[in-house]
Amino acid sequence: MTDQLRSLALDALTRARDRTAALTSCVDDRDLTAQHSPLMSPLVWDLAHIGNQEEQWLLRQVGKGEALRPEIDSLYDAFEHPRAARPSLPLLAPAEARIYASDVRGRVLDILERTAFEGGPLLDAGFAFGMIAQHEQQHDETMLITHQLRKGPPALSAPEPPAHDIGPLPREVLVPGGAFTMGTSTEPWALDNERPAHRRIVPAFHIDTTPVTCGEYQAFIEDGGYHERRWWAAEGWDQIRQHDIGAPLFWRREGGTWLRRRFGVTEEVPPDEPVLHVSWYEADAYARWAGRRLPTEAEWEKAARHDPHTGRARRYPWGDADPTEAHANLGQRHLRPAPAGSYPQGASPLGVRQLIGDVWEWTSSDFLPYPGFAAFPYREYSEVFFGSEHKVLRGGSFAVDPVACRGTFRNWDLPVRRQIFSGFRTARDAQQPAGTDVGGL
Ligand code: AVJ
Ligand code: FE
Repeated sequence: MTDQLRSLALDALTRARDRTAALTSCVDDRDLTAQHSPLMSPLVWDLAHIGNQEEQWLLRQVGKGEALRPEIDSLYDAFEHPRAARPSLPLLAPAEARIYASDVRGRVLDILERTAFEGGPLLDAGFAFGMIAQHEQQHDETMLITHQLRKGPPALSAPEPPAHDIGPLPREVLVPGGAFTMGTSTEPWALDNERPAHRRIVPAFHIDTTPVTCGEYQAFIEDGGYHERRWWAAEGWDQIRQHDIGAPLFWRREGGTWLRRRFGVTEEVPPDEPVLHVSWYEADAYARWAGRRLPTEAEWEKAARHDPHTGRARRYPWGDADPTEAHANLGQRHLRPAPAGSYPQGASPLGVRQLIGDVWEWTSSDFLPYPGFAAFPYREYSEVFFGSEHKVLRGGSFAVDPVACRGTFRNWDLPVRRQIFSGFRTARDAQQPAGTDVGGL
């Protein structure tokens, strides 16, 4: 058991570091220290921040070791310095940041060798190691966003997603009403905001079989969707008018053709691919235009986890097994979503596809704590973000590693954000037969 956990932790940490290395070795020092967008940190900030978080949690807390470089804690504290201000800080230079992160890692691997995975919530099941692997992978997604915003020739490449036999699919799936188990109390590396497991009553609803595609989204644009006030939430309308937004980020029209820039390459927008780089407001407006709505967070999780045959909540749509390459487009193996309807082996029991991987999916819900929430191990991971300011995204994108993605995983962002790998699917209420209780309970 202990050996198995040790190798799981080692594997997760190593995979994260390989990804970090790939994202920071493909550009030169000037590129690493430049700010490619005021929305993002210089890549070299992420690199040392990754090392610093690892030092704080694994060297100092778990390993009970001396602080290695306590004087840089505040430089790499995300709450002390907004992203736009980070380039003007006296950051570690690229070579120094690399040495620092690998020095921390070397010591952490010694600690991992001698740690017993018991004796408190930080140690049980190797939680702190899992948390730090997830943290690094989350920054690897952040760094991939920076790469997408970066101008200039391509620095990254990856194979195309594999072709799947998609076949004819129903537009939507009916999820029957009733209670289901949301969140988790048993997933060992689940973060605080995913806990605890609790029952939720969700009335019957229909949900799209696949995420909304670029082609479908284009129909909204062509129908004048960005110019009709009635589809838009007030702040969304203000945003698109103020910034003259008329299409997803990175799209531009040339003649009659929609083009997009993707990691330094300009290409035609692929009509059958899930739409990417839309804000919550754009997703919300599209859904209203389509006569539908965004799913609530509970609806999304019920569609992804509830097994109507057994009544159990699964870890993933396809079951309890960890994701493989056959289940989902995860882990930056491909630098784009797969066509809508791909990954039939990753479908839910009711046949909903691509819930995990490809694009983060906006839900209609605010980011709020579950009943019984307890901040762990630090308030700044989730608790300080709870409230109506942030909307929840679910399911993970092609840029997320499996360690930081599962049926219960919750992401959140401001509703104006569009540089993230965000898409969506839509839903609608199901007609309740007369005389039936909502939820059939
Ligand atoms: C969960 C993706 C919103 O990147 O701001 C990284 C994850 N927290 N370092 C973020 C996170 C601390 C977080 N998100
Ligand atoms: Fe962080």
